[in-house]
Amino acid sequence: MTQTLTIPRPDDWHLHLRDGDMLAAVLPETSRDFGRAIIMPNLVPPVVTGDQARAYRDRILAALPEGDDFTPLMTLYLTEDTDPNDLAAAFESGLIRAVKLYPAGATTNSASGVRNFENVRPILERMAEIGCPLCVHGEVTTADVDIFDREAVFIDTVLDPLRRSIPGLRVVMEHITTKDGVDYAMAGDDTLGATITTHHLIINRNHILVGGIKPHYYCLPVAKRETHRLALRAAATSGNKRFFLGTDSAPHLDHLKEHACGCAGCFTATNTMPLLAHVFEEENALQNLAAFASQNGPAFYGLPVNTATMTLTKQDAPVAFPNKIPTPNGPVTVFDPGYPVYWNVT
Ligand code: DOR
Ligand code: ZN
Repeated sequence: MTQTLTIPRPDDWHLHLRDGDMLAAVLPETSRDFGRAIIMPNLVPPVVTGDQARAYRDRILAALPEGDDFTPLMTLYLTEDTDPNDLAAAFESGLIRAVKLYPAGATTNSASGVRNFENVRPILERMAEIGCPLCVHGEVTTADVDIFDREAVFIDTVLDPLRRSIPGLRVVMEHITTKDGVDYAMAGDDTLGATITTHHLIINRNHILVGGIKPHYYCLPVAKRETHRLALRAAATSGNKRFFLGTDSAPHLDHLKEHACGCAGCFTATNTMPLLAHVFEEENALQNLAAFASQNGPAFYGLPVNTATMTLTKQDAPVAFPNKIPTPNGPVTVFDPGYPVYWNVT
């Protein structure tokens, strides 16, 4: 008997599209399957002002394949010099849907991020007033904290104090990778949400390091030990409204991943929905895929669920996803879960 699953057209609440040739190459991989995506602002230079967000949105729309029903939801990159009036105007006009906080040095193109959180307090207070969500890359960056502990330490020393001191602030814990993140999100109220990536449901740190280093599994926050992956899977597949899909699909050219100092990022736009169907089926939770990928995100962001639908069908033979997406400057490797996947978008 053919197994199919129909869900509202999903959204991606955390996506890197880049710009120029890379944008043109990767955007169709997302716009084919997703109705909307929260677009990360970590370009070089970053998207800091409303004018820059408008111009970037227009470049995305210009690169969109004809006929694809896709809306980019723009964000601003928070700096210590962000103008709260410009931010508020961009949010209130609907141009941006959120603001992204990168601790300085946390990841790709985060040098302009926040060094001293006290310096952005007035901006965050303004965001709380107007209801603008803050998307947080939740890792401390000080050299004395082990890279596998950076998320847990961030929650205790930065995130929790911040939320207590600005209680109305709506916060998305982006790409959580630990049981600590799951537990904190679960204990939160309706001002708190958490995104989970596709790849963190599939790999743990052994996948990166055992049997030779696998640069295409390296991303930030780095995948943690198996107990954490299991906590993420339980959270994502539970249907709990705090958790929603943010792929963090982050394209880098292969030669910059397969490098002495390789870039962080997994490119999952191409096969995310089939991979999620696989994971949710393994957890006996296909009935909760719609909540995770299509319903909980819009509920947090105060947007309607997409009216279009997506159907996934379990095939008789493993699906052959493309291994690489070509760009004029070289290929981008598509995330390989390391096992056959039978689900496909049909
Ligand atoms: O792995 C990652 N890649 N994590 C991030 O936070 C940024 C992203 C990128 O932009 O490549
Ligand atoms: Zn990201």
